Amino acid sequence: MVKRSASDMEKRRVSLQERLDAGKTQAERNRMGQFATPTGLASDILRYAKKLLNDNTKLRFIDPAIGTGSFYSALLEVFSSSRVDAAVGYEIDDHYGIPAARLWEGTSLDVRLGDFTKTVAPPEPQRFNLLICNPPYVRHHHIGNGEKTRLRAHTQSACGVKISGLAGLYCYFLGLSHAWMASGGLAGWLIPREFMDVNYG
Ligand SMILES: C[S@@+](CC[C@H](N)C(=O)[O-])C[C@H]1O[C@@H](n2cnc3c(N)ncnc32)[C@H](O)[C@@H]1O
Repeated sequence: MVKRSASDMEKRRVSLQERLDAGKTQAERNRMGQFATPTGLASDILRYAKKLLNDNTKLRFIDPAIGTGSFYSALLEVFSSSRVDAAVGYEIDDHYGIPAARLWEGTSLDVRLGDFTKTVAPPEPQRFNLLICNPPYVRHHHIGNGEKTRLRAHTQSACGVKISGLAGLYCYFLGLSHAWMASGGLAGWLIPREFMDVNYG
């Protein structure tokens, strides 16, 4: 297998992202919160994470809403691949998940096709010390009542927090991910500013 540089992989990922986005309507992408993180922003976030982490820490990375893998790509740009012990990404939509799994084949990234909100966190030794995520922005009006009840119960058992019925899907991602984090782990979330203003924030 040809080993490609991080910048070459990022170019391939961006062109894949453009092609996949073009295959969906704006309404479809809105419904599932499918808006990718730009390369520069993903790199800045990972560079900032590097400053906060101890130099020798081996990384167990997770992105619960991986898309084509913008944060995994930035991880490989910022850290040497030998520091990455494990990397996992969840993606609910095969339209993105299958080509992403193909793109990252042969790397440390394990792309899992499925709904992250239906997962059960692994035991402590398999948890993650670096989580970076741009969770789907889906407003609460677009989450059905039965689904909201399930999400609220699952999130409360994962982190002990009762999420408000007015919260968007990204709030459930925050709470559910808590159970996936190793003690002392670092999480970086790209979430809307509204979080700071609304009561449920
Ligand atoms: C805002 S995009 C971010 C994608 C990528 N991580 C990035 O930063 O460019 C959110 C991604 O989460 C996926 N997604 C939405 N709901 C999900 C769920 N319940 N479980 C896993 N992935 C989900 C969407 O299909 C989309 O690819």
